[in-house]
Amino acid sequence: MSFTEAVVLVRTATEYGMSLKIRNVCENDLETILVINNATRLGILPLDDKRLRWFFERAVYFRVAEVDGVVGGFIIGFRETAAHDSSNFLWFRGHYPAFVYIDRVVIAPTLRGRGLGRVFYTDVQSYAELQVPMVACEVFLEPRNDAVVLFHGTFGFHEVAQRRMTGNNRRVSLLAKELCSFQFVRDTYLEQGGLPKLAWLENARRTCRQDHSAPAPQATGPA
Ligand SMILES: CC(C)(COP(=O)(O)OP(=O)(O)OC[C@H]1O[C@@H](n2cnc3c(N)ncnc32)[C@H](O)[C@@H]1OP(=O)(O)O)[C@@H](O)C(=O)NCCC(=O)NCCS
Repeated sequence: MSFTEAVVLVRTATEYGMSLKIRNVCENDLETILVINNATRLGILPLDDKRLRWFFERAVYFRVAEVDGVVGGFIIGFRETAAHDSSNFLWFRGHYPAFVYIDRVVIAPTLRGRGLGRVFYTDVQSYAELQVPMVACEVFLEPRNDAVVLFHGTFGFHEVAQRRMTGNNRRVSLLAKELCSFQFVRDTYLEQGGLPKLAWLENARRTCRQDHSAPAPQATGPA
């Protein structure tokens, strides 16, 4: 985490006088997550309980923001090896050998614009940069949401392609951010080009046992 990013983190917790905790998801968060997700209509694909549970059991990275003791946002990420059926995820898999794909980041409407999204992206970057050279995600261009486009553009994402999603035919911008720390840490600090086999490194942010064999249940929404 850079100094600037750390400052953003501290600013978020103090400037707005709220207590903030970023932690791994628990099963009893899922109901709230479903409500937050489905309250965001056009910007995000809807979820049902079955698909969310599939995410819960298989996402390599799934964190929530607890604001004053209440879950106010979440972020979900998958490695390129996941059995995820998102057509955008599959596009990235066809073009890049290793990445963390951010399936979605959602902040409850009343908490937006207070730096929580930025805290999540700092956190996912810290998670990803020891393991892969890139994070990937997409934003809808139809309809385009300037706040979401700026949110990604000001965090170092750049467009690598545009495509129309299968199913709903909406145009999306596929975004990537290269993680320069990945190679630097390997070249500078690690022997034999790999991370040491330490349990805390493997499991630090993992929420659940991974099983890539089961296909994801279909989305109920337009995707
Ligand atoms: C996109 C989203 C996650 C951003 O989270 P957030 O907590 O509201 O964003 P932050 O407060 O951390 O803002 C970080 C930066 O994003 C940009 N940004 C965020 N909201 C903005 C707005 N309304 N107008 C302009 N820029 C905005 C700014 O560059 C901002 O930096 P700044 O505060 O220094 O100006 C949130 O708006 C959201 O949940 N949207 C609905 C779901 C969604 O579309 N997710 C993205 C696709 S998966």
